[in-house]
Amino acid sequence: MKIIMLGAPGAGKGTQADKIAQKYSIPHISTGDIFRKNIKEGTALGKEAKQYMDEGKLVPDELTVRILLDRVASDDCSRGYILDGFPRTIPQAEALEKKLGELDDDIDFAINVDVPDENIVNRMSGRRACPKCGATYHIKHIPPKKEGICDECGAELIIRDDDKPETVKNRLKVYHEQTQPLIEYYDKKKILRTVDGTKDAEDVFRAIADILE
Ligand code: AP5
Repeated sequence: MKIIMLGAPGAGKGTQADKIAQKYSIPHISTGDIFRKNIKEGTALGKEAKQYMDEGKLVPDELTVRILLDRVASDDCSRGYILDGFPRTIPQAEALEKKLGELDDDIDFAINVDVPDENIVNRMSGRRACPKCGATYHIKHIPPKKEGICDECGAELIIRDDDKPETVKNRLKVYHEQTQPLIEYYDKKKILRTVDGTKDAEDVFRAIADILE
């Protein structure tokens, strides 16, 4: 099964992608996580991506597509995968489609997690992320068992650099301009499914699981 998660920054794509990945035993591939890992490791890719991410802009398509296509060619993707944060532009979607077409393959579902902009800023300000294993929490809605500590690996949780309110506003603007057109793109391909992302995370997951089943 090959799934794309669509939705505004902070809509809950990563939270849901994790749950789906566990249920279906397929890899959760987040381009944002790949870039953050490279930033942490100080690679050339990380240095380049950071300039864009800190301003809430998108990393250029050419670079992002190359990384993603390399990643989905790995052995662990042979049974499928869930893409979180890719594609984010029409050219990215077309590049993925072209590659899959060469393999006589296709995406099964594009799941749009729908959350209005008003809810987003609140979600981002309460988000806490694990720099070690990538798990995500919310101080009110999805708190860790022990404040400030990751349930999964025990690392100290952090606030992401791009979760500052000014950067979040820019990320939302970029989302509406460059990523939202993908909703129509996948609707036309008849694989778009939309879920109400304002509900409790477990309810959102049940709605997605119903679609996938
Ligand atoms: P990326 O890491 O992909 O960030 P994003 O899309 O902005 O998405 P987020 O990770 O912020 O949010 P999410 O929807 O996953 O929500 P989450 O589950 O964490 O990208 C970061 C940057 O990298 C981009 O700005 C860009 O620069 C670059 N980049 C990445 N991919 C790229 C690409 N393809 N092309 C170009 N550039 C790219 O949830 C958010 C919060 O809400 C959490 O605190 C969570 O606990 C909480 N929450 C989740 N669900 C619920 C719920 N149902 N109710 C209440 N709270 C909830």
